[in-house]
Amino acid sequence: MARLKAGVLISGRGSNLQALIDACAVPGFPAEIALVIANKADAYGLQRAQQANIPSAVISHRDYPDKQRFEQAIDAAFRDAGVGLVCLAGFMRLLSPWFVDRWYDRLINIHPSLLPAFKGLDTHARALAAGVRIAGCTVHLVRSAVDEGPIIAQAAVPVLPGDDETALAARILESEHRLYPLALRLFAEDRLQVVEGRVEIRGMIAAGPALINPPA
Ligand code: GRF
Repeated sequence: MARLKAGVLISGRGSNLQALIDACAVPGFPAEIALVIANKADAYGLQRAQQANIPSAVISHRDYPDKQRFEQAIDAAFRDAGVGLVCLAGFMRLLSPWFVDRWYDRLINIHPSLLPAFKGLDTHARALAAGVRIAGCTVHLVRSAVDEGPIIAQAAVPVLPGDDETALAARILESEHRLYPLALRLFAEDRLQVVEGRVEIRGMIAAGPALINPPA
């Protein structure tokens, strides 16, 4: 079966992009990355794409008169590359309803919290301030409202005594790097179906035991 062509949108470091690149490099993985687009020329993720011989482009919002023209350029580039799924990976611009509609159910995002808790920015600081014992990350289908949309997969990690934002972010990021490739694989294997606003996963196997924090 032909591999799904994924497009990735980034703004910076691109560690999640790297996780997707690494996953796609494993023989038999059902997806490949056809194009990486950054809205910033200095996004480190562009170097990761180049090192992996993946086509990349800079499409900067600054070069377009308005958001619509900027998003049309991104849309056209992904379509020209034959992309069937767009993955947001640390992309720091809000996408308009026009773009979200054009890629409806073919646009996914990773967010470093257990949604619907802690949408938006400063998630780690807010999770710490709230005193949660379990934090995590979510991959979801994108809808027009920020960090909303049917949830595909989540990973939970403990918040540990003495955690600051950096420590918690690093622990969550490790789980992001496992979760995003999993979500990409499920999508590429055509195992996801949105039913009444929720994602059903065909052939889902039972999850492991509960994460209890503090340990029981
Ligand atoms: C990640 O924490 C992701 O969840 C959030 O932005 C960050 C991007 O990091 N949306 P990277 O660029 O993938 O390293």
